[in-house]
Amino acid sequence: MMAAATPPDQAARTGASRTSASRTDADAPTAGASVSGNAGAPRVNPLQRLWLREIGMERLWLRQEPAAPSRPAAAQAQQPASAPAAGAGPAAAPAAPAALAGAPAAAKASPAAAPAAAPAAAVRSGPPPRPPARTREASPDPAPAPTPAEVAERVRDASLEELSAQVQACTACGLCHGRRHAVFGHGGQPTRWMVIGEAPGEQEDRQGLPFVGRSGQLLDAMLASVGMSRERDVFIANVIKCRPPGNRNPKPEEIAACSPYLMRQIALLKPERILVVGRFAAQTLLGTDATIGNLRGRIHRFKDESGREIPVVVSYHPAYLLRSPSEKARAWQDLRLACSQL
Ligand code: URA
Repeated sequence: MMAAATPPDQAARTGASRTSASRTDADAPTAGASVSGNAGAPRVNPLQRLWLREIGMERLWLRQEPAAPSRPAAAQAQQPASAPAAGAGPAAAPAAPAALAGAPAAAKASPAAAPAAAPAAAVRSGPPPRPPARTREASPDPAPAPTPAEVAERVRDASLEELSAQVQACTACGLCHGRRHAVFGHGGQPTRWMVIGEAPGEQEDRQGLPFVGRSGQLLDAMLASVGMSRERDVFIANVIKCRPPGNRNPKPEEIAACSPYLMRQIALLKPERILVVGRFAAQTLLGTDATIGNLRGRIHRFKDESGREIPVVVSYHPAYLLRSPSEKARAWQDLRLACSQL
């Protein structure tokens, strides 16, 4: 069990003030994220769209895409999780940003920033080791921040351990300057569920582990209520790996910079399903401005970089549940939905 700790102040980060600047419209054709029963056949997932925007390719790339055939909702819902969706998705778009974690031909950067000593953090069971604290020694000649395209190139073939080391050493956005630890994520393997939250809070930044405050304790209890454990079969990660100062909302460029890591994590871990907690994470992953109230209660589909469709269930952030305990009943329904045969 994780040590109890002062809860990170998530209120501002999960509340109604969240901006939508970093997200695509709910109406936009998103791929990688579709909803059961939605006949639209999206082709570019929201995180990829952010990345495309970041490198100035969004309009160009999206215009070049051929129209995707729409699939009947039932077929989509019944498709085995391992089967790539027909005609849609990054996997069907060679040489495209085929994955945030993958494709850009430009900017073949060396995996420069990875530290020699990679923390063994993310993939083991048992009490999680803490990643080494980041040293603050001044570099005489700091390297320029890598672009999202360069980050995507670096992570493309990375193992989970290599990816963790890259995250620890990441300088792709300004959040690296204020962090104690980058928080890669932690959990058991094989990964049945992946839980995706927003960003590290104060305690997570201190300890280098996700969800270690009071909201983490609640999350553990919620998972335990359906027989799941972060030590055994759940991998917990965040959209953003470094704590935003004062727990402010992550900026679009920070999301774009960090997205390749999450995409690669999902591709490597191959979770049976994803539970997204909180409005920010849900909107970012699914590329929508819809509210939690609108998103929860049904199955969404996220297409990973190989085209594999993963069922996604949206629920409330545990920090919100701590403030609004009456909503725990709905969160329980969400967990039951995630447990059902999807
Ligand atoms: N809230 C999050 O979204 N993630 C954490 O890791 C901790 C709190």
